[in-house]
Amino acid sequence: MQDQFLRRIDYLRISVTDRCNLRCKYCMPVEGIEWMPHDFILSFEEILRLMKISTQLGFRRFRITGGEPLVRKDILDFLREAAQLPGVEDLMLTTNGMLLSEMAFDLKAAGVQRVNISLDTMDRTRFFENTRGGDASKVIQGIFRSLEAGLNPVKINVVVVRGFNTEELPSFLKLAKQYPLHVRFIELMPIGVSSEHRNEFVSIKEMKELLGLNEDDLPTKDIPGGGPAEYFRPSGYKGSIGFISALSRHFCDTCNRVRLTADGKLRPCLHSKHEVDLREVLRSGSSDQDILNVFAQAVWHKPAEHHMNNEAWQDTRVMSQIGG
Ligand code: GTP
Ligand code: 5AD
Ligand code: SF4
Repeated sequence: MQDQFLRRIDYLRISVTDRCNLRCKYCMPVEGIEWMPHDFILSFEEILRLMKISTQLGFRRFRITGGEPLVRKDILDFLREAAQLPGVEDLMLTTNGMLLSEMAFDLKAAGVQRVNISLDTMDRTRFFENTRGGDASKVIQGIFRSLEAGLNPVKINVVVVRGFNTEELPSFLKLAKQYPLHVRFIELMPIGVSSEHRNEFVSIKEMKELLGLNEDDLPTKDIPGGGPAEYFRPSGYKGSIGFISALSRHFCDTCNRVRLTADGKLRPCLHSKHEVDLREVLRSGSSDQDILNVFAQAVWHKPAEHHMNNEAWQDTRVMSQIGG
Protein backbone atom coordinates (compact mmCIF):
# COMPACT_ATOMS: atom_id res chain seq x y z
CA MET A 1 0.00 0.00 0.00
CA GLN A 2 0.96 3.63 -0.21
CA ASP A 3 1.33 6.04 2.67
CA GLN A 4 0.21 9.68 2.72
CA PHE A 5 3.46 10.68 0.97
CA LEU A 6 2.85 8.18 -1.82
CA ARG A 7 5.71 5.92 -0.78
CA ARG A 8 5.10 2.26 -1.50
CA ILE A 9 5.23 0.39 1.83
CA ASP A 10 5.67 -3.36 1.41
CA TYR A 11 8.40 -4.27 3.92
CA LEU A 12 7.56 -5.27 7.50
CA ARG A 13 10.27 -5.66 10.11
CA ILE A 14 9.06 -7.92 12.89
CA SER A 15 10.86 -8.01 16.22
CA VAL A 16 10.04 -11.37 17.81
CA THR A 17 11.79 -10.74 21.12
CA ASP A 18 13.43 -7.92 23.06
CA ARG A 19 15.88 -10.42 24.59
CA CYS A 20 19.41 -10.75 23.43
CA ASN A 21 22.36 -13.00 24.25
CA LEU A 22 24.73 -10.00 23.92
CA ARG A 23 24.75 -6.49 25.37
CA CYS A 24 26.48 -4.29 22.80
CA LYS A 25 27.67 -1.02 24.25
CA TYR A 26 25.90 1.16 21.69
CA CYS A 27 22.66 -0.75 22.08
CA MET A 28 22.12 -1.56 25.76
CA PRO A 29 23.14 0.02 29.04
CA VAL A 30 25.72 -1.84 31.15
CA GLU A 31 23.06 -3.07 33.56
CA GLY A 32 21.04 -4.48 30.65
CA ILE A 33 17.36 -3.68 30.26
CA GLU A 34 14.33 -5.04 31.99
CA TRP A 35 12.84 -7.68 29.69
CA MET A 36 9.22 -7.27 28.71
CA PRO A 37 6.87 -9.54 30.66
CA HIS A 38 5.98 -12.73 28.76
CA ASP A 39 2.33 -11.86 28.29
CA PHE A 40 3.28 -8.58 26.60
CA ILE A 41 5.06 -10.44 23.84
CA LEU A 42 3.00 -11.43 20.82
CA SER A 43 2.63 -15.17 20.39
CA PHE A 44 3.73 -16.66 17.08
CA GLU A 45 0.06 -17.27 16.25
CA GLU A 46 -0.63 -13.57 16.74
CA ILE A 47 2.35 -12.58 14.59
CA LEU A 48 1.30 -14.98 11.81
CA ARG A 49 -2.19 -13.52 11.88
CA LEU A 50 -0.77 -10.01 11.51
CA MET A 51 1.51 -11.15 8.71
CA LYS A 52 -1.46 -12.63 6.83
CA ILE A 53 -3.39 -9.39 7.25
CA SER A 54 -0.39 -7.36 6.11
CA THR A 55 -0.11 -9.38 2.90
CA GLN A 56 -3.65 -8.23 2.11
CA LEU A 57 -2.30 -4.68 2.32
CA GLY A 58 0.46 -5.57 -0.13
CA PHE A 59 3.31 -6.36 2.24
CA ARG A 60 5.64 -8.86 0.58
CA ARG A 61 8.98 -8.64 2.39
CA PHE A 62 9.43 -9.61 6.00
CA ARG A 63 12.55 -9.20 8.09
CA ILE A 64 12.64 -10.95 11.46
CA THR A 65 14.64 -9.10 14.11
CA GLY A 66 15.03 -8.97 17.88
CA GLY A 67 16.77 -8.38 20.34
CA GLU A 68 18.26 -11.53 18.97
CA PRO A 69 15.59 -13.48 17.07
CA LEU A 70 17.38 -16.83 17.28
CA VAL A 71 17.09 -16.95 21.08
CA ARG A 72 13.32 -17.20 20.92
CA LYS A 73 12.04 -20.72 21.59
CA ASP A 74 10.48 -22.47 18.57
CA ILE A 75 11.72 -19.79 16.17
CA LEU A 76 12.35 -22.38 13.43
CA ASP A 77 8.75 -23.64 13.57
CA PHE A 78 7.54 -20.06 13.31
CA LEU A 79 9.80 -19.30 10.35
CA ARG A 80 8.66 -22.45 8.54
CA GLU A 81 5.02 -21.36 8.86
CA ALA A 82 5.78 -17.75 7.99
CA ALA A 83 7.66 -18.74 4.83
CA GLN A 84 4.63 -20.66 3.61
CA LEU A 85 2.10 -17.88 4.00
CA PRO A 86 0.70 -16.82 0.63
CA GLY A 87 2.09 -13.42 -0.31
CA VAL A 88 5.33 -13.79 1.64
CA GLU A 89 7.94 -13.36 -1.10
CA ASP A 90 10.99 -12.62 0.98
CA LEU A 91 11.68 -13.88 4.49
CA MET A 92 14.88 -12.54 6.01
CA LEU A 93 16.60 -12.33 9.33
CA THR A 94 18.89 -9.86 11.11
CA THR A 95 20.99 -11.58 13.75
CA ASN A 96 24.07 -11.11 15.91
CA GLY A 97 25.31 -14.42 14.55
CA MET A 98 26.14 -16.08 17.87
CA LEU A 99 23.87 -19.07 17.17
CA LEU A 100 24.24 -19.15 13.41
CA SER A 101 26.89 -21.83 13.08
CA GLU A 102 24.41 -24.30 14.59
CA MET A 103 21.30 -22.90 12.90
CA ALA A 104 22.23 -21.72 9.39
CA PHE A 105 21.20 -24.92 7.58
CA ASP A 106 17.95 -25.18 9.58
CA LEU A 107 17.12 -21.57 8.73
CA LYS A 108 17.59 -22.25 5.05
CA ALA A 109 15.47 -25.41 5.29
CA ALA A 110 12.75 -23.43 7.10
CA GLY A 111 12.50 -21.05 4.14
CA VAL A 112 14.63 -18.08 5.19
CA GLN A 113 16.21 -16.62 2.06
CA ARG A 114 18.95 -14.47 3.53
CA VAL A 115 20.56 -13.13 6.68
CA ASN A 116 22.18 -9.88 7.80
CA ILE A 117 24.78 -10.42 10.50
CA SER A 118 26.23 -7.84 12.89
CA LEU A 119 30.02 -7.87 13.18
CA ASP A 120 31.50 -4.56 14.28
CA THR A 121 35.02 -5.83 14.86
CA MET A 122 36.96 -8.98 13.99
CA ASP A 123 39.32 -8.47 16.90
CA ARG A 124 38.38 -11.05 19.55
CA THR A 125 39.23 -8.95 22.60
CA ARG A 126 37.55 -5.85 21.25
CA PHE A 127 34.49 -7.85 20.26
CA PHE A 128 34.29 -9.43 23.71
CA GLU A 129 34.48 -6.01 25.35
CA ASN A 130 32.04 -4.28 23.04
CA THR A 131 29.41 -7.01 23.24
CA ARG A 132 30.12 -7.65 26.93
CA GLY A 133 30.83 -11.33 26.53
CA GLY A 134 30.45 -12.26 22.84
CA ASP A 135 32.78 -14.48 20.84
CA ALA A 136 33.81 -13.07 17.45
CA SER A 137 35.04 -16.43 16.21
CA LYS A 138 31.56 -17.94 16.72
CA VAL A 139 30.04 -15.14 14.64
CA ILE A 140 32.65 -15.58 11.92
CA GLN A 141 31.95 -19.34 11.84
CA GLY A 142 28.26 -18.50 11.57
CA ILE A 143 28.94 -16.22 8.60
CA PHE A 144 30.71 -18.98 6.69
CA ARG A 145 28.07 -21.58 7.65
CA SER A 146 25.46 -19.21 6.21
CA LEU A 147 27.33 -19.10 2.92
CA GLU A 148 27.61 -22.90 2.89
CA ALA A 149 23.92 -23.24 3.66
CA GLY A 150 23.07 -21.14 0.59
CA LEU A 151 21.58 -18.18 2.43
CA ASN A 152 22.11 -15.57 -0.22
CA PRO A 153 23.19 -12.83 -0.08
CA VAL A 154 24.93 -12.76 3.29
CA LYS A 155 25.34 -9.19 4.50
CA ILE A 156 27.58 -8.01 7.32
CA ASN A 157 26.56 -4.98 9.39
CA VAL A 158 29.42 -2.88 10.74
CA VAL A 159 28.28 0.04 12.89
CA VAL A 160 31.19 2.49 12.78
CA VAL A 161 32.10 4.08 16.11
CA ARG A 162 34.93 6.57 16.44
CA GLY A 163 37.80 5.30 18.55
CA PHE A 164 36.42 1.78 18.55
CA ASN A 165 36.61 0.26 15.07
CA THR A 166 37.63 3.12 12.76
CA GLU A 167 41.19 1.85 12.31
CA GLU A 168 39.88 -1.62 11.45
CA LEU A 169 37.72 -0.61 8.51
CA PRO A 170 40.24 -1.52 5.79
CA SER A 171 40.39 -5.13 7.03
CA PHE A 172 36.66 -5.43 6.35
CA LEU A 173 37.41 -4.63 2.71
CA LYS A 174 39.46 -7.83 2.53
CA LEU A 175 36.44 -9.81 3.66
CA ALA A 176 34.34 -8.41 0.83
CA LYS A 177 37.14 -8.89 -1.65
CA GLN A 178 37.90 -12.52 -0.85
CA TYR A 179 34.38 -13.82 -0.17
CA PRO A 180 30.90 -13.23 -1.59
CA LEU A 181 29.99 -11.14 1.46
CA HIS A 182 28.34 -7.74 1.40
CA VAL A 183 29.89 -5.59 4.11
CA ARG A 184 27.82 -2.54 5.05
CA PHE A 185 29.26 0.32 7.06
CA ILE A 186 26.56 2.01 9.12
CA GLU A 187 26.39 5.46 10.66
CA LEU A 188 25.76 5.33 14.39
CA MET A 189 22.23 6.46 15.11
CA PRO A 190 21.48 8.29 18.37
CA ILE A 191 18.91 5.83 19.65
CA GLY A 192 18.72 4.79 23.30
CA VAL A 193 22.24 4.45 24.72
CA SER A 194 23.79 5.75 21.49
CA SER A 195 22.20 9.16 22.00
CA GLU A 196 24.94 9.74 24.59
CA HIS A 197 27.59 8.93 21.99
CA ARG A 198 27.01 11.57 19.33
CA ASN A 199 30.70 12.49 19.51
CA GLU A 200 31.58 8.96 18.33
CA PHE A 201 29.63 9.43 15.12
CA VAL A 202 31.54 8.93 11.84
CA SER A 203 29.91 10.09 8.61
CA ILE A 204 29.88 8.00 5.44
CA LYS A 205 32.06 10.67 3.82
CA GLU A 206 34.74 10.15 6.46
CA MET A 207 34.38 6.36 6.26
CA LYS A 208 35.06 6.50 2.54
CA GLU A 209 38.17 8.58 3.20
CA LEU A 210 39.37 6.08 5.81
CA LEU A 211 38.82 3.30 3.32
CA GLY A 212 40.57 5.16 0.52
CA LEU A 213 37.48 5.09 -1.68
CA ASN A 214 36.62 7.61 -4.30
CA GLU A 215 33.56 9.75 -3.46
CA ASP A 216 32.55 9.68 -7.13
CA ASP A 217 32.49 5.90 -7.65
CA LEU A 218 29.18 4.76 -9.07
CA PRO A 219 27.01 2.50 -6.94
CA THR A 220 25.83 -0.92 -8.13
CA LYS A 221 22.17 -1.94 -8.05
CA ASP A 222 22.62 -5.69 -8.34
CA ILE A 223 22.64 -6.64 -4.62
CA PRO A 224 19.26 -8.07 -3.58
CA GLY A 225 17.64 -6.17 -0.72
CA GLY A 226 14.96 -3.68 0.03
CA GLY A 227 16.96 -1.56 2.41
CA PRO A 228 18.70 1.77 2.50
CA ALA A 229 22.27 0.64 1.75
CA GLU A 230 24.17 1.99 -1.25
CA TYR A 231 26.56 -0.65 -2.62
CA PHE A 232 29.85 -0.53 -4.51
CA ARG A 233 31.65 -3.43 -6.12
CA PRO A 234 35.27 -2.55 -6.81
CA SER A 235 36.76 -4.66 -9.57
CA GLY A 236 38.10 -8.01 -8.40
CA TYR A 237 35.71 -8.18 -5.44
CA LYS A 238 33.66 -11.34 -4.85
CA GLY A 239 31.36 -9.41 -2.55
CA SER A 240 30.61 -5.73 -2.22
CA ILE A 241 30.78 -2.86 0.21
CA GLY A 242 27.79 -0.84 1.24
CA PHE A 243 27.01 2.29 3.23
CA ILE A 244 23.97 3.13 5.32
CA SER A 245 23.85 6.87 5.80
CA ALA A 246 21.01 7.17 8.27
CA LEU A 247 22.07 10.63 9.43
CA SER A 248 24.31 12.43 6.97
CA ARG A 249 22.03 11.76 4.00
CA HIS A 250 18.87 10.09 5.13
CA PHE A 251 16.79 7.99 2.78
CA CYS A 252 13.34 8.67 4.19
CA ASP A 253 11.85 9.86 0.89
CA THR A 254 12.25 6.33 -0.49
CA CYS A 255 11.38 4.49 2.72
CA ASN A 256 9.38 1.29 2.18
CA ARG A 257 8.98 -0.13 5.67
CA VAL A 258 7.21 -0.17 9.00
CA ARG A 259 8.04 -2.10 12.17
CA LEU A 260 6.24 -4.36 14.57
CA THR A 261 7.74 -4.49 18.05
CA ALA A 262 7.81 -7.69 20.11
CA ASP A 263 5.06 -6.28 22.34
CA GLY A 264 2.79 -5.73 19.38
CA LYS A 265 3.16 -2.03 18.62
CA LEU A 266 3.22 -0.92 15.03
CA ARG A 267 5.98 1.67 14.71
CA PRO A 268 5.56 3.49 11.44
CA CYS A 269 9.13 4.81 11.46
CA LEU A 270 12.30 3.58 13.16
CA HIS A 271 12.22 6.82 15.10
CA SER A 272 8.50 7.17 15.74
CA LYS A 273 7.40 8.25 19.16
CA HIS A 274 3.92 7.43 18.00
CA GLU A 275 3.12 3.70 18.01
CA VAL A 276 -0.15 1.93 17.35
CA ASP A 277 -1.13 -0.82 19.77
CA LEU A 278 -2.00 -3.83 17.59
CA ARG A 279 -1.76 -6.20 20.54
CA GLU A 280 -4.71 -4.53 22.19
CA VAL A 281 -6.68 -4.74 18.94
CA LEU A 282 -5.72 -8.41 18.47
CA ARG A 283 -6.61 -9.39 22.01
CA SER A 284 -9.94 -7.61 22.16
CA GLY A 285 -11.60 -10.05 19.78
CA SER A 286 -11.38 -7.85 16.68
CA SER A 287 -12.11 -9.24 13.24
CA ASP A 288 -9.38 -9.46 10.59
CA GLN A 289 -11.05 -6.54 8.79
CA ASP A 290 -10.91 -4.37 11.95
CA ILE A 291 -7.24 -5.18 12.42
CA LEU A 292 -6.55 -4.48 8.76
CA ASN A 293 -8.16 -1.06 9.10
CA VAL A 294 -6.06 -0.12 12.14
CA PHE A 295 -2.91 -1.43 10.41
CA ALA A 296 -3.65 0.53 7.24
CA GLN A 297 -4.33 3.75 9.19
CA ALA A 298 -1.00 3.42 10.98
CA VAL A 299 0.89 2.92 7.72
CA TRP A 300 -0.93 5.84 6.11
CA HIS A 301 0.26 8.11 8.95
CA LYS A 302 3.92 7.12 8.61
CA PRO A 303 5.96 10.29 9.20
CA ALA A 304 7.77 11.95 6.33
CA GLU A 305 11.21 11.60 7.89
CA HIS A 306 13.13 11.19 11.10
CA HIS A 307 14.37 13.96 13.41
CA MET A 308 17.51 12.34 14.74
CA ASN A 309 19.68 15.22 13.62
CA ASN A 310 17.96 17.33 16.22
CA GLU A 311 20.00 16.93 19.40
CA ALA A 312 16.93 17.41 21.58
CA TRP A 313 15.38 14.32 20.04
CA GLN A 314 15.05 11.36 22.45
CA ASP A 315 13.62 7.92 21.81
CA THR A 316 11.31 6.06 24.13
CA ARG A 317 12.93 2.69 23.42
CA VAL A 318 16.43 1.31 23.11
CA MET A 319 17.46 -0.30 19.80
CA SER A 320 17.03 -3.88 21.05
CA GLN A 321 13.34 -3.11 21.67
CA ILE A 322 12.91 -1.83 18.12
CA GLY A 323 14.88 -4.34 16.09
CA GLY A 324 17.13 -1.99 14.14
P1 GTP B 1 18.14 -5.30 3.45
O1 GTP B 1 18.61 -4.14 2.65
O2 GTP B 1 16.80 -5.77 3.05
O3 GTP B 1 19.15 -6.39 3.46
O4 GTP B 1 17.96 -4.87 4.98
P2 GTP B 1 18.38 -3.67 5.90
O5 GTP B 1 19.76 -3.22 5.58
O6 GTP B 1 17.32 -2.67 5.86
O7 GTP B 1 18.34 -4.38 7.34
P3 GTP B 1 19.27 -4.52 8.62
O8 GTP B 1 18.39 -5.09 9.68
O9 GTP B 1 20.49 -5.29 8.32
O10 GTP B 1 19.66 -3.04 9.01
C1 GTP B 1 20.89 -2.45 8.70
C2 GTP B 1 20.98 -1.07 9.33
O11 GTP B 1 20.07 -0.21 8.69
C3 GTP B 1 20.65 -1.03 10.82
O12 GTP B 1 21.53 -0.15 11.46
C4 GTP B 1 19.26 -0.50 10.84
O13 GTP B 1 18.98 0.16 12.05
C5 GTP B 1 19.31 0.45 9.66
N1 GTP B 1 17.97 0.64 9.13
C6 GTP B 1 17.16 -0.32 8.64
N2 GTP B 1 16.01 0.22 8.24
C7 GTP B 1 16.11 1.56 8.49
C8 GTP B 1 15.23 2.65 8.31
O14 GTP B 1 14.12 2.53 7.82
N3 GTP B 1 15.67 3.87 8.69
C9 GTP B 1 16.89 4.05 9.21
N4 GTP B 1 17.24 5.29 9.54
N5 GTP B 1 17.76 3.06 9.40
C10 GTP B 1 17.36 1.82 9.06
N1 5AD C 1 22.97 2.83 15.07
C1 5AD C 1 23.09 2.15 13.91
N2 5AD C 1 22.89 0.82 13.83
C2 5AD C 1 22.58 0.17 14.95
N3 5AD C 1 22.35 -1.13 15.19
C3 5AD C 1 22.06 -1.28 16.49
N4 5AD C 1 22.11 -0.09 17.13
C4 5AD C 1 22.45 0.83 16.19
C5 5AD C 1 22.66 2.23 16.22
N5 5AD C 1 22.55 2.93 17.33
C6 5AD C 1 22.41 -2.16 14.15
C7 5AD C 1 22.94 -3.47 14.67
C8 5AD C 1 22.28 -4.48 13.75
C9 5AD C 1 21.12 -3.73 13.13
C10 5AD C 1 19.82 -4.38 13.35
O1 5AD C 1 21.11 -2.45 13.71
O2 5AD C 1 24.31 -3.54 14.58
O3 5AD C 1 23.17 -4.90 12.75
FE1 SF4 D 1 11.99 5.22 7.09
FE2 SF4 D 1 11.81 6.47 9.36
FE3 SF4 D 1 14.00 5.10 8.65
FE4 SF4 D 1 13.41 7.42 7.49
S1 SF4 D 1 13.96 7.05 9.59
S2 SF4 D 1 14.10 5.60 6.49
S3 SF4 D 1 11.16 7.24 7.42
S4 SF4 D 1 11.94 4.27 9.07
